[in-house]
Amino acid sequence: MSIAREQFGSRIGFILAAAGSAVGIGNLVGFPVAAAKNGGAAFLLIYALFVFLICLPVMVAELSMGRRAQQDPLGAYRKLSNGSPLWSIAGWLVLITPYLIGVFYMVITVWLFGYLVEAASGNLTQLAKPDNFGQFINANNVFAYFLVVAVMVNLILVGGVKDGIERAAKIMMPALFVMLLALVIFVLTLDDALVGVKYYLVPDFSKIDAGVVNGALSQAFFSLSLGMGIMITYGSYIGRDEKIAGSAKIVALTDTGVAFAAGLMILPAIFSFNPAIDTDTLSDSSVSLIFTFLPKIFLALQTTIGYVAASVAASMFFLLVFFAALTSLVSITEVPTASLVRKGYSRKKALTLLSATMGLLTVACILSFGRVESLSAFVSYAGQSKSLFDVIIDVSYDTILPLNGLLICLFVIFRWRKQNLNAELELGDPDYKGSMMERYVNLSLSSFIPLVLLLIFINTVALKYFGVTLVG
Ligand code: TRP
Repeated sequence: MSIAREQFGSRIGFILAAAGSAVGIGNLVGFPVAAAKNGGAAFLLIYALFVFLICLPVMVAELSMGRRAQQDPLGAYRKLSNGSPLWSIAGWLVLITPYLIGVFYMVITVWLFGYLVEAASGNLTQLAKPDNFGQFINANNVFAYFLVVAVMVNLILVGGVKDGIERAAKIMMPALFVMLLALVIFVLTLDDALVGVKYYLVPDFSKIDAGVVNGALSQAFFSLSLGMGIMITYGSYIGRDEKIAGSAKIVALTDTGVAFAAGLMILPAIFSFNPAIDTDTLSDSSVSLIFTFLPKIFLALQTTIGYVAASVAASMFFLLVFFAALTSLVSITEVPTASLVRKGYSRKKALTLLSATMGLLTVACILSFGRVESLSAFVSYAGQSKSLFDVIIDVSYDTILPLNGLLICLFVIFRWRKQNLNAELELGDPDYKGSMMERYVNLSLSSFIPLVLLLIFINTVALKYFGVTLVG
């Protein structure tokens, strides 16, 4: 009755697309800063443990759900629960998430693109001025940058799974790896770079407390694109002859590898700029690091390598982060696109509809940094006034994301059931049957993973909306 669902053309194509989704600002900047503040390699170790022990089983579960159902998240929840209205709610929650996360990530990607254009035009001195960022986000150029980025995302997505998403990932991901490697090598040649390397690689476990552990897990969960419906959707494009568990391991490894390498780029750069820096004084926010602190470091390079070379280094950095963000944005926009396609829309129509609605919300966010008072002071809770942009992050990233993860574990184990999960994972992978991995996935998904996600959910809700600190 229906035409065959589109599929990735190759295993490596899927792996690069999924890694493209997973690798983003969180890996390239968020992780290095968190590591700098929280004990270097001690943080790395905890992060890697979480990626493999907690996030990987969830990723495997999402991919299997998608491949079994051959549908987007809402369709998958409905189909695998035989149309249960209760589980449809979980499907809707998954659908709201990419919508909101897509909007906030778009805003940051637009800024990245703007900084890339400025750095490549030789305006490094301007970028490094302390009040530049505040002016930049409220300048009208932002709308032009937004238009360009939106067109790029749409051009990739309109090509479909194989000729759009996969092809883009096959170009951008290798380029990203090369640029990252080049920047790491370059940074390591700077004076005092080794102070940073040492700081990064010598673990300091005294910095690890409950808050750090909670942060590491949230970051790993977010970074791997979990709870957003992306892995369910991408799973629906994997052939039945592919090994899901094996591919998921490579994606997790790539994500962690990029985060590790990014540490070797960012930390030595910071210490080369100021060998005596107290890392506690670094901002927690990736945004302030990327747009305020790093441009200062790039500009300072002009005394040793000259203005042009410093601008080239800055441009390469912004291009690197921009590519990482763009592939994530593509993956998240594919989720609602797939839902609309299931409803009978053509890809083009679906993308037009999404561009219009998500575009409107993005513009509202762009206006919420002081331009429009009602959007800038949108609501206030837990004693803080929040802009629309802040609210979107709180609701999507901090609240719905862990809840979605929890619901996926419960759904897969108690509604869809273990035997069906195992049967799906054994397709194309006969060795999976009876393997350690199989036993671990079954055990973890039915016990401590949902428990941990529940605790994170309760903890962040208490903190974000009631101002109560339970852990951290
Ligand atoms: N990889 C992103 C990061 O590390 C997080 C992320 C995963 C993401 N999937 C995404 C962001 C989809 C936006 C859209 O920053």
